Amino acid sequence: MMLDCISSVLWFCCALTFGLWGLGMGLQDSETVRCWTWRTNHNLPLSQDGDIVIGGSISLHYETSAIDNVYKQVPQYNCTGSLVLYELQNVYAMIYAVEEINRNKRLLPGIKVGYQIFDNCASLEYIISTVKSYIPIIIGGESSDRSKILSTILGPLSVPLISYWATCPCLSDRRLYPNFFRTIPSDIYQARTLAQLAKHFKWTWIGAVVMQNDYGLGAIKGFVCLAFLRTVRGENIVTDAREAALTIQASTAKVIIIFAWSLVVTELFVQLDRINVTDRQFLASETWSTSGDLLQHPATSRVARGVFGVAIRSSTIDGFEAYIRGLHPSQRPDNELLREYWEKEFGCAPVSSSSASLPPCNGTESLYGVHSHFTDMSQLRVTYNVYLAVYAAAHALHSLLSCPNTDTSTSNCSSAHQVTPAQLLEHLSRVNFTTPQGERFYFQGGDIPAKYDLINWQKSPEGSLRLSLIGNVDGFDIDLNETGIQWSTGSSQVPVAVCSVSCAPGTRKAGKKGKPSCCFDCITCASGEISNKTDSLNCQRCPPEYWSNAKGTACIPRQQDFLSFDETLGITLTTVALFGAVVTTAVFVVFLYYRQTPMVRANNSELSFLLLVSLKLCFLCSLVFIGRPSVWSCRFQQAAFGISFALSISCLQVKTMVVLAAFRSARPGAGMFVKWFGPTNQRGSVCLLTSMQIIICIVWLSVSPPEPHLDLSVQGPKVTLECAMESVLGFSLVLGYIGLLACTCLLLAFLARKLPDNFNEAKLITFSMLIFCAVWVAFVPAYVSSPGKYSVAVEIFAILASSYGLLFCIFAPKCFVILLRPAKNTKKYMMRK
Ligand SMILES: *[C@@H]1O[C@H](CO)[C@@H](O)[C@H](O)[C@H]1NC(C)=O
Ligand SMILES: *[C@@H]1O[C@H](CO)[C@@H](O)[C@H](O)[C@H]1NC(C)=O
Ligand SMILES: *[C@@H]1O[C@H](CO)[C@@H](O)[C@H](O)[C@H]1NC(C)=O
Ligand SMILES: *[C@@H]1O[C@H](CO)[C@@H](O)[C@H](O)[C@H]1NC(C)=O
Ligand SMILES: *[C@@H]1O[C@H](CO)[C@@H](O)[C@H](O)[C@H]1NC(C)=O
Ligand SMILES: *[C@@H]1O[C@H](CO)[C@@H](O)[C@H](O)[C@H]1NC(C)=O
Ligand SMILES: *[C@@H]1O[C@H](CO)[C@@H](O)[C@H](O)[C@H]1NC(C)=O
Repeated sequence: MMLDCISSVLWFCCALTFGLWGLGMGLQDSETVRCWTWRTNHNLPLSQDGDIVIGGSISLHYETSAIDNVYKQVPQYNCTGSLVLYELQNVYAMIYAVEEINRNKRLLPGIKVGYQIFDNCASLEYIISTVKSYIPIIIGGESSDRSKILSTILGPLSVPLISYWATCPCLSDRRLYPNFFRTIPSDIYQARTLAQLAKHFKWTWIGAVVMQNDYGLGAIKGFVCLAFLRTVRGENIVTDAREAALTIQASTAKVIIIFAWSLVVTELFVQLDRINVTDRQFLASETWSTSGDLLQHPATSRVARGVFGVAIRSSTIDGFEAYIRGLHPSQRPDNELLREYWEKEFGCAPVSSSSASLPPCNGTESLYGVHSHFTDMSQLRVTYNVYLAVYAAAHALHSLLSCPNTDTSTSNCSSAHQVTPAQLLEHLSRVNFTTPQGERFYFQGGDIPAKYDLINWQKSPEGSLRLSLIGNVDGFDIDLNETGIQWSTGSSQVPVAVCSVSCAPGTRKAGKKGKPSCCFDCITCASGEISNKTDSLNCQRCPPEYWSNAKGTACIPRQQDFLSFDETLGITLTTVALFGAVVTTAVFVVFLYYRQTPMVRANNSELSFLLLVSLKLCFLCSLVFIGRPSVWSCRFQQAAFGISFALSISCLQVKTMVVLAAFRSARPGAGMFVKWFGPTNQRGSVCLLTSMQIIICIVWLSVSPPEPHLDLSVQGPKVTLECAMESVLGFSLVLGYIGLLACTCLLLAFLARKLPDNFNEAKLITFSMLIFCAVWVAFVPAYVSSPGKYSVAVEIFAILASSYGLLFCIFAPKCFVILLRPAKNTKKYMMRK
């Protein structure tokens, strides 16, 4: 009576709790929330007494008899519907493990482990009397939702819950679920593994079909670039699957990741088969990767060849197959489940008292040779997790009851009957043992390290699909037999799944507007910029002395550009300069040969010769400007130019002064000057005028000489090597001095042009000076505005033009007379004039 009262009160509390819980969690209508107590043993088909009893909560049926929720008494209900065979295998895996542990002399010696396995009919349940009934640990919670609720309810009692199938990452939260453990890795690891695999195969352009829940949406977080994301709702499988199939058909993505229940995947494959989409590569989650029904479905053989994905790690359990196949209801007459299975499998009643509608069995039936989910030992995946859970519980109990000497603070050894769930919880979180299969087992928090199989659906020679193990995952390590994979194409060639192919060196990625980050254009690097690796995000500018090569993949030293003797411009200028020098030499020779003739003698032959020499120097000095600028050529060219021209103009100036002086000598009082301005002083004047320029040059070149310099301010594959003027003042002075000489010379010549003389040179000098000045006035703007080496060419041109101007204006008429009109080159003729 007392117990019933407590139960009723507890049950009422439970109903209230679930009422609130249901509101908070937004439980789906299809999930019935049901409270029950452990004592209602209609639902307790399997139990065995022991010193310590391990609880099991497993959904063996998916339907329940109707119950009346009147909240006045503890409700009772029976599970109905067909038996879930793979869960039956889990039940027997649990029993088998317990029996194995009891046989083991070293694990829990002297202690008998019992079990109470409860069929929870796939609904959310509440276990009230665990404490009362000495169940310190529960194995169960085959779905994440159920585990959440079980863990929450068992939490205050500190009863540990070990789930073998709940994968939700949310359950790793130790604050919310401190008593939750699992022997299956969290989905976090699965998503991580799939992302790792996608990265390994360089698949970036992936489509995703996922359940619209935490499971599906949580899984795709690792994939940054999705071609599309379709969600499927549990209530709308057919419509959603059809839409997903059309999306897959329309998409360019060749690799599709599917995170959904196998029911959804089946429907999706049927739809894809209908629209003939057979060339996609599917990436499978563990929910459907090993589904035998899906593998055998007619639609899959065309659509789902080459499916590749993760599966719950499988293992073998020694002796388990023999154990299962040896089961017979006659050994366990009170085992309702086995009876139910027997009836289902053989269609006969093993025990006379059972269902009257069936004929009695003849006793020769046996599970040897039966192929069903119950006897299938080819893949022990979840079953192995159940087996592990029992072992984890046993090892925790073992460590709790064996009073380790090291742990003196809790030297108060419990007896098996005093074990409290809280103690067990603490020991469970510290278990670290080797399984009978030789694996190391321990919990990290409540989770176990990632362990998966990698599987591939391969077409067998008979044309059917079969599952192949092609690798496994242990933590971060992926061990994959890549050559063993058969892809959807049927070959071992890894499918390509990229939105844009990678950008070669020399180009950079440029995101496409409104497209995911893996879709991009490749843009060629601008001239002067490079990218030296594939898929570069940006181009790098080359250092100033470097420029990009033609492909834009490396910086190469910029080609130094200067006016050289090899190029057309250089050759032309050299030829013209040499020709000028030759002509000057020729004139010199002519003058030398005819030095006794009046024409030569009349015009101060010494200055003429000096002028010819200086003109020759002018021509030759232009050559110094051509070729690679060096420290010495930079200094020498300006000095040579300045001094040669100063010398030439000085000669002309003195010549003009001589003409002026000669004219004045005809007038009285001028004798003094003429006498004074004799050949010696003429020479001296030339020297004086020239030496001024020499001094300017010496000062300039010693204070801040022009240096060879790379003009890096201008971009381009070539860089101009030029003689840079440190001091523009120096160059201006040199030019200015020449200009000054030229102007005074022009002025003097202009004054003297009308003077009667037998062969008045002044006219010629005036004319030549005009040409000279015109050339150099034009030079300045042309020089300043010419780019790079062309400024040098402009200077050479000016030098040559002015030199030719002087040469022709002054010497051409004389040579004409000397060579072609010798008649005029007589003293008489000259005097006559
Ligand atoms: C459950 O089954 C037991 C006997 O197997 C029966 O007595 C009880 O009435 C059933 N309960 C419901 C709710 O069907
Ligand atoms: C699919 O392919 C089959 C055979 O190739 C063809 O008969 C059928 O019309 C195709 N269906 C669609 C929807 O294209
Ligand atoms: C016993 O029954 C099974 C089918 O339930 C049948 O296959 C078998 O032949 C029977 N054996 C005998 C000895 O009747
Ligand atoms: C064991 O626990 C009991 C009560 O909890 C206590 O009285 C006893 O002293 C403890 N023994 C040791 C050895 O700590
Ligand atoms: C488990 O035990 C093994 C051997 O005793 C040890 O190497 C390993 O570090 C332990 N693992 C953990 C998580 O404690
Ligand atoms: C990988 O798979 C191929 C084909 O199935 C097989 O021949 C080969 O032995 C496998 N390699 C390894 C290391 O397992
Ligand atoms: C690419 O260029 C960077 C500097 O621009 C250099 O450090 C790196 O070594 C280059 N890489 C290759 C593969 O040439």
